[in-house]
Amino acid sequence: MSLKKLEMTPELKAAVERELAGGPGGGLRAGASGLASHYRKGGRSDAAIDLAAYMAVRLPATFAAVSAALHEVRQARPDFAPRTLLDAGSGPGTASWAAAAAWSGLSRFTLLDSNPVFLGLAARLAAASPLSALRAADCRIGEIACLGPGEGADLVVASYALAEIPDGRLEAAIAALWAAAGAMLVLVEPGTPAGFARLRAARDGLLKAGAVPVAPCTHAAACPVTGSDWCHFSVRLARSRAHIHAKNASLPFEDEKFAYLVLARNGGPTGGGRILSPPFELKHATSFRLCTGRGLESLAVAKREREAYRSIRKKSWGDWLPDKMEENGT
Ligand SMILES: C[S@@+](CC[C@H](N)C(=O)[O-])C[C@H]1O[C@@H](n2cnc3c(N)ncnc32)[C@H](O)[C@@H]1O
Repeated sequence: MSLKKLEMTPELKAAVERELAGGPGGGLRAGASGLASHYRKGGRSDAAIDLAAYMAVRLPATFAAVSAALHEVRQARPDFAPRTLLDAGSGPGTASWAAAAAWSGLSRFTLLDSNPVFLGLAARLAAASPLSALRAADCRIGEIACLGPGEGADLVVASYALAEIPDGRLEAAIAALWAAAGAMLVLVEPGTPAGFARLRAARDGLLKAGAVPVAPCTHAAACPVTGSDWCHFSVRLARSRAHIHAKNASLPFEDEKFAYLVLARNGGPTGGGRILSPPFELKHATSFRLCTGRGLESLAVAKREREAYRSIRKKSWGDWLPDKMEENGT
């Protein structure tokens, strides 16, 4: 992902700051540490979730991860211009804000969540959007697996939501999300082996149903990432003052590890390769680990191949490489 440090949009940042200023204050640090251990243990965003802690520490990170995934959608499908969005398991509306920043032509937003407290926050934040369609978002209480036929959208995004669905209900939830996706489905999960396993299962099932991989997969062959390995990426995000305070952190940024999967109804895979790790700097070359339709490969570009070396040095973990660039490797 050749993206610089990712920040929430100024309007979202300001709306979050207003919410945090209006809260009880004081307990943010305790709330943030409680929230971290809650999610680490696989906890759900239930009614007791600490909204202030979520806004201060998780929202900036999930916003950065969804934005990075949507950036790859725009790279792979520059002509894709969704008009309608379903943000499934919306929480505070993270994916809606990220999608609004990516596609200003979105004219209808539906935010669906099973937690009314989270959905109330989503509606208050959405009211601060510069996009009138997001201000007028339809915020609905509901279950992902029970999405009805009339609740579909061009683009469906489920961000950090599958992790909260019990294993026995996951397949039905994924089928419902795919049925709701008029053109494209974006799934974003924590960048853990478990997060990736959920996405790999979704990929296996939905490719059989005719889905076309858009990103990070560049091909529709069997996923070559197996065993104890897992496909995930990293995005750097700026920490706000509240974020630094909540985490008692010293650095003004952090790296969010995430996994994602984008599937479309039409078109074909991009071909080429996806860079699966940070580059290895060798004495005379730079080397990358790539996922391609032929399987996992390593690509080394020698310094003496000046032009190819200059181009490859601009690439980083998560980026897509066209076939031509792969061929220029040694
Ligand atoms: C970790 S939060 C992620 C929120 C937001 N998408 C983000 O990326 O910041 C997970 C959200 O999914 C919602 N959720 C969990 N299971 C759900 C289900 N079966 N149907 C609808 N929403 C669900 C939770 O209430 C919570 O708001």
